[in-house]
Amino acid sequence: MGSERYATVAGLGSVLPERVVSNEWFESFIDTSDEWIRERTGIRERRFAPDGQTTSDLATEATRRALQTAGIAPEQVDLLVCASLTGDTPIPSTAVWMQRKLEISAPAFDVNAACAGFSYAMSAATAFIESGQAETVVVAGAEILSRVMNFQDRSTCVLFGDGAGAVVLRRSEEPGVLGSVLGADGRAAEILIIPGGGSAQPPTHESLEAKGYTIHMPNGREVFKRAVVEMANACRQLLEKSGFGPEDVDLLIPHQANARIMVAVAERLKIPQERAVVDVESVGNTSAASIPIALDRAWRAGRVRTGDLVLLTSFGAGLAWGANLVRWTGPDAP
Ligand code: ACO
Repeated sequence: MGSERYATVAGLGSVLPERVVSNEWFESFIDTSDEWIRERTGIRERRFAPDGQTTSDLATEATRRALQTAGIAPEQVDLLVCASLTGDTPIPSTAVWMQRKLEISAPAFDVNAACAGFSYAMSAATAFIESGQAETVVVAGAEILSRVMNFQDRSTCVLFGDGAGAVVLRRSEEPGVLGSVLGADGRAAEILIIPGGGSAQPPTHESLEAKGYTIHMPNGREVFKRAVVEMANACRQLLEKSGFGPEDVDLLIPHQANARIMVAVAERLKIPQERAVVDVESVGNTSAASIPIALDRAWRAGRVRTGDLVLLTSFGAGLAWGANLVRWTGPDAP
């Protein structure tokens, strides 16, 4: 008795900045239209953070909300993991800034697997709990992508938004996180990249002029195709190794990049569309934050119930992808 170590979701929360940015806003400075954006992506509006607000501000607020739903005090957290590609500072990590704001002393680190960051962070946090290195872990996904966008590039700037979500994972004797599958393919690194700002292209006047610090996606179609294939494959592998079939999945929550990608993933998996969460319309693509935001919003809407089998899957720059399978043990929706 008491010897099993599993990780289970004990709480969740999310936050979006207040400023709503509609598709029409882009029409005033680039050649695009609300109709084009909606048709190709399913996005109608997204949120942008105001100057002065940082990624850790959003992550900390999402964490506070998650801890509240779990009934857990910040001091009980013994590990903080933050998935992000838009951290406050190259060092220290965004998780450390969160730790400071939460006024706790837990160890803290970031995970950067771009849009797949939350899947990787969930997998790592689960392993920390199962191996006995932690009991209560915050897994946050947070982004301020509006600071790394090229607003002259219509093929990327209309896609992204800002926000944060967090889950609290806790040690349990009942399995909650049933397993994870992760993957990467560095051969396709250039098709989705922020080329500047690191050791390959350190910040210089020239690289700033060339907008090297912004998201470059020279082949959106290829990203689209790979996203569908890799998320569907990861889900299939994970279900198979966990002893389930697609028919057992109560809720599929794919990375919220593009409604058409999500519809295609559900189709490939033969999971009915009504069991897939497509919540990109008013949020946009928030990269590593998209899954915990979509999960929290679905939970608050009463779509996640105790006992449900919830399948989370992501894909992004790297290329990198992943999936996590969760048996929902609570909390109950508010
Ligand atoms: N408004 C109007 N026209 C546009 C816009 C825009 N915002 N962006 C591109 N176009 C034009 C292109 O210039 C092109 O014009 P052309 O035919 O004259 O050359 C035309 O639309 C078609 O471009 P495609 O790139 O072929 O359009 P597609 O149907 O593939 O849609 C999109 C583009 C939405 C980017 C799609 O490829 C996609 O969703 N890819 C996945 C990318 C993604 O989600 N990336 C996010 C990060 S990765 C992730 O999170 C999974």
